[in-house]
Amino acid sequence: MTKQYNIACLPGDGIGPEIVAEAVKVLELVAEQTGVTFNFSYGRIGGIAIDEDGTPLPDETLRIAKAADAVLLGAVGGPKWDQNPGHLRPETGLLGIRKGLGLFANLRPATMTDSLLEASTLKPEVVAGVDLIVVRELTGGIYFGQKKRFTDENGRDTAVDELIYNEDEIERIIRVSFEIARKRSKKLCSVDKANVLESSRLWRKVAERVAADYPDVELTHQLVDSCAMQLVRAPKQFDVIVTENMFGDILSDQAAMLTGSIGMLASASLAEGSFGLFEPVHGSAPDIAGKGIANPLATILSAAMLLRLSLGLDDAADKVEKSVWAVLDAGHRTGDIGADKSKALGTIAMGELVREELKKQF
Ligand code: NAI
Ligand code: MG
Repeated sequence: MTKQYNIACLPGDGIGPEIVAEAVKVLELVAEQTGVTFNFSYGRIGGIAIDEDGTPLPDETLRIAKAADAVLLGAVGGPKWDQNPGHLRPETGLLGIRKGLGLFANLRPATMTDSLLEASTLKPEVVAGVDLIVVRELTGGIYFGQKKRFTDENGRDTAVDELIYNEDEIERIIRVSFEIARKRSKKLCSVDKANVLESSRLWRKVAERVAADYPDVELTHQLVDSCAMQLVRAPKQFDVIVTENMFGDILSDQAAMLTGSIGMLASASLAEGSFGLFEPVHGSAPDIAGKGIANPLATILSAAMLLRLSLGLDDAADKVEKSVWAVLDAGHRTGDIGADKSKALGTIAMGELVREELKKQF
């Protein structure tokens, strides 16, 4: 019996179908080379689902996703649906699936390959060799606390957002981060604002408690303002950063821009156990949809994260990532990462080069 895995593919809108198709071909090659079996199932989400099913997240899509070992998602959205009311907007489908699947840990790697140094706005000596991951708590904190609006005793319009975390919510994200750090360079930096916020003091206490189970991983703490400075001053000091929802929202975008190329950024969102949803950070790029020129590498790198984090196929994941860097090192480019127009590769050609390289890796 070969090992079987179920992968749900939700291509979505715009360039989604084009880039997901290339990542699926990479996964098919992995299956062929390693002898595992991937059963792909497809669901609609976002604008396409609004058009075909009358809702951005059909029940059938959620069912397919829940039945799978992991989900590979393209992107959703586009001008066609921009004027729709809330319940008929593509991003409502994304929020719905994240909630429906209980995804509480958002992982955003920032990896700088030497051949793309020119894409960063920072000095090459600062960003060369950057290889870090920001782990953001996704379901708690100030975005989900009570919101209040009232008139104070002086008649002023006043607003409150509550930042709330319990120790269980903190513990599970800290554990995920330790597990990831253990597989990397065994350094975990927990980021908070413990000099001011009570929720951060609890965060730090829980992090210290969990650290006892991971004596092989070095835990450090940084205040979020200091971390923001260090990320642009000396990003190489970081390997895995874990932080709460709002700090993570900001720091993950900041870290992403160390590398400077939206078409290269992968992400993972994990639930309890090994289940996860994997997607590129970029959107549906309606301006280039259907032209066959989208960069598929962010989605292919997301598929590599899927192999590693949900299926435990670490070796295959390493090989896919290595293939992507090798193709870039050989000078191949899509238009968004600086090919001059006459030499820019299309989506399929780029995917094909990655697969050729991957064959050599096995
Ligand atoms: P975007 O990421 O789709 O595009 C920004 C710019 O980057 C565009 O010029 C686009 O052509 C380019 N780009 C993005 N991905 C690329 C790729 N793989 N290869 C080459 N070029 C690429 O963000 P934008 O324009 O703000 O949003 C477009 C639509 O996508 C909107 O409807 C937005 O709501 C949606 N969106 C969806 C997300 C998701 O599905 N997770 C995330 C961000 C935006
Ligand atoms: Mg953000």
